[in-house]
Amino acid sequence: MKLLVTGGAGFIGSNFIYYWLKNHPDDDIVNLDNLTYAGNLENLRSIQNNPHYRFIKGDICNVDDVTAAMHAVDVVVHFAAESHVDRSILSPSIFVMSNVVGTQTLLDAALKQKVKRFHHISTDEVYGTLRLDTREKFSENSPYNPRSPYSATKAASDHLVRAYHITYGLPVTITNCSNNFGPFQFPEKLIPLAITNLLEGKSVPMYGRGDQVRDWLYVEDHCRAIDVVINKGEVGETYCVGGQHEELNNLDVVKKIIGLLGKKESKIKYVKDRPGHDVRYAMDWTKIHMKLGWKPKYDFDKWLEKTVEWFQSNQEWWKRVRSGEYQEYYQTLYAGR
Ligand code: NAD
Ligand code: TYD
Repeated sequence: MKLLVTGGAGFIGSNFIYYWLKNHPDDDIVNLDNLTYAGNLENLRSIQNNPHYRFIKGDICNVDDVTAAMHAVDVVVHFAAESHVDRSILSPSIFVMSNVVGTQTLLDAALKQKVKRFHHISTDEVYGTLRLDTREKFSENSPYNPRSPYSATKAASDHLVRAYHITYGLPVTITNCSNNFGPFQFPEKLIPLAITNLLEGKSVPMYGRGDQVRDWLYVEDHCRAIDVVINKGEVGETYCVGGQHEELNNLDVVKKIIGLLGKKESKIKYVKDRPGHDVRYAMDWTKIHMKLGWKPKYDFDKWLEKTVEWFQSNQEWWKRVRSGEYQEYYQTLYAGR
C-alpha cells in the first residue's frame, strides 16, 4: 500500500511516519511538506534512506505539487496545517490558505487519483469550549462552534472533507483529537514551551489564572488511533480521540513539569490571557473504543516524564528550532503581556 502523508515533517506527522514504518514495514510513504517554521526534516533523519520512504518538498495549496505527490497513492493521511492558536490570532490568513484551500486542493487530487481512503486529522477545538463546572465532554454529535481563527479553519476543512464524501463519493474518515504531547513537538505549545524554557532557566508564561483544562493525549496513542481508523473505520465516519487521566488544568501540568525538572514554582509567570481562550476541552472516545477497540494506553504522568527526558536529551534539536524565526515570534507574542 502507498500512503501520502501531508505535513509529515511536523510533530504528529513525523511520529506517525515512524509509527507506520515500524508497524507496516512493507508499505511505502510519500511525505509532502513545504517545511514551514514547524516542519523539520531533522525529525526524520533516521529514516531518510529507508527505501519505503520519500520526501517531497511542496505546498498542499499548489495543484502541481499535490498532483505529483498523489501519483499511485492508495491512502492519504492529511496532517499538514497551520496548527498554533496564538499564531492564528496574530496572522489568520495563512491558516485559511493552508487549512482550507490546501485541504480542498488535496481533496480534488485525491478524487482524481481515486484513492481508497482520505483520512483527515482534525481537532477537538472545532467543537468550541466546555464549562469548567461540568463533567460534559465533546463527542462526534457535538455541534461545531469554533472560536479561534485556527479552529474555524479546521472546522471548514472538516466540512469540506465531509462534503467531498457526500457530493462526490470520496471515501473519507476523520479523527478529531485532543491536545497531543511527545517528542518533536514544536516548543511553542504549552508542554514543550514549559520544558524548554525551564531548561534554559527562563520563566513559563501562564495565561490568565492557568485554570484552563486540556485533554492530554500521548502522540503514539494518537498514531494508533489513526491506524485503527484507516484499517477498520467506516467510510464517511468521524471518530473522537482523547487521553485518559484525571482532568488537569494548565497550572497542574506546568507544576508537574517543574517538579520533574527540580525547578521552583516561582518560575511561573502569570501573563495576560489569550483572547477568546477556550476554557476546557474533554473528549468522549466511546465510539472508537466500542466500534474499533481503541483506547489510550499511555499514562499521562509516566509519558510526561518520558517527554521531559526526551527534551533533556535532545537539546540540540530544540535549540536549533528556537533560533531564527522563533525568537521574533516569541518577542511579538509575549512582549505585550
Ligand atoms: P505542526 O505544526 O507540528 O506540523 C504541521 C506540518 O505541516 C509542518 O511540517 C508544516 O511544514 C506542514 N505544513 C503546513 N502548511 C503546509 C502547506 N501549506 N503545505 C505543506 N505542508 C504544510 O502540527 P502538528 O501538531 O503535528 O499537527 C498536525 C495536525 O494535527 C494538524 O492538522 C493539526 O490541526 C492537528 N491536531 C494537532 C493537535 C496537537 O495537539 N498538536 C491536536 C489536534 C489536532
Ligand atoms: P497550546 O499548547 O497552545 O494548545 P491549544 O491552545 O491548542 O490547546 O495551549 C495549551 C493551553 O496552555 C491553553 O489553555 C493555553 C495555555 N498556554 C499558556 O498558559 N501559556 C503558554 O505560553 C502557551 C503556549 C499556552
